[in-house]
Amino acid sequence: MVGVTAAPADVATGSVYVARLLTDDAMASLQSLDRTLVVGPEEPPTREEILRRVPGAAAIICTLTERIDAEVLDAAGPQLRVVANTAVGYDNIDVAAARARGVVVTNTPGVLDRATADLTLGLILAATRRIAEGDRFLRNGTPWTWGPRMMVGLDLSAGATLGIIGLGRIGRAVAQRARAFDMQVLATPTRAELDDDERAAIQIVDLPELLRRSDVVSLHCPLTPQTRHLIDDDALRQMKPTALLVNTARGPVVDTDALVAALAGGEIGGAALDVFEDEPHVDPRLLGFEQVVLTPHLGSAADATRSAMCQMSVGNAVAVLAGRPPLTPVS
Ligand code: GLV
Repeated sequence: MVGVTAAPADVATGSVYVARLLTDDAMASLQSLDRTLVVGPEEPPTREEILRRVPGAAAIICTLTERIDAEVLDAAGPQLRVVANTAVGYDNIDVAAARARGVVVTNTPGVLDRATADLTLGLILAATRRIAEGDRFLRNGTPWTWGPRMMVGLDLSAGATLGIIGLGRIGRAVAQRARAFDMQVLATPTRAELDDDERAAIQIVDLPELLRRSDVVSLHCPLTPQTRHLIDDDALRQMKPTALLVNTARGPVVDTDALVAALAGGEIGGAALDVFEDEPHVDPRLLGFEQVVLTPHLGSAADATRSAMCQMSVGNAVAVLAGRPPLTPVS
């Protein structure tokens, strides 16, 4: 453990620790706060740097790459009021530890649904229509001519079935886009209130049925103790041997060892992964599969979306420091 000495501070004078440089507009909004800003680098700060810079903070504005646990909360000091995550997923934050210390935790729901759903459809197309593979093929200088049997992929709009695990905001945005491709849509049970169109178009089924019937299985659930390794050996065995697994949620929802074995053994047809179990490390075994498409956690990486996320996390911190309710507290 890194030793830290809490700087004397109270809520009124506490600093704002911005763990990573946010978008320019969000950084400009922070300037209006009459508080010391402790701003981290563009790259993820090391644990040691977080523990060194957080003492005295009344607000921590972080991203999904920083683990905010009891040690960091205690290092900040008793004046800490809010941890504002610049992400919708908040599995990087020990919410119970924050609550126990009277610290509000906020996230950024709603502003990244469309961008993440767009990327999901991009990954589905990249894998099923072999776009990434075709790109590699040409870059490698492979000789070719057009042919009726050349690099044929799955025809999404010829009745392919998409199974959505996690029909929340992002899952629903994915379903909407999939319907534009004439896909049949299945989803696991949801607490979301579906509208009439969604109720007519999306068939709610249990997980085994979804795994058995889907040509594409797409993950949109949060990472919780219940969803860690939800996609394991057993789940993969239930999928079609031609099916594509898509993960734009969180890496640990999929058991990587099980996925590698399923790909190697032909138990599933392919995978498209934007997130990884031990980010930013990508298991090198995944790189060897032609039928796997990989992107570096780009789900929300679209300009207006990133700006909205950063403004929202700043807005949450500003609200709590001003004694107002947070805009988007985690439940
Ligand atoms: C991105 O992964 C997020 O949770 O916002």
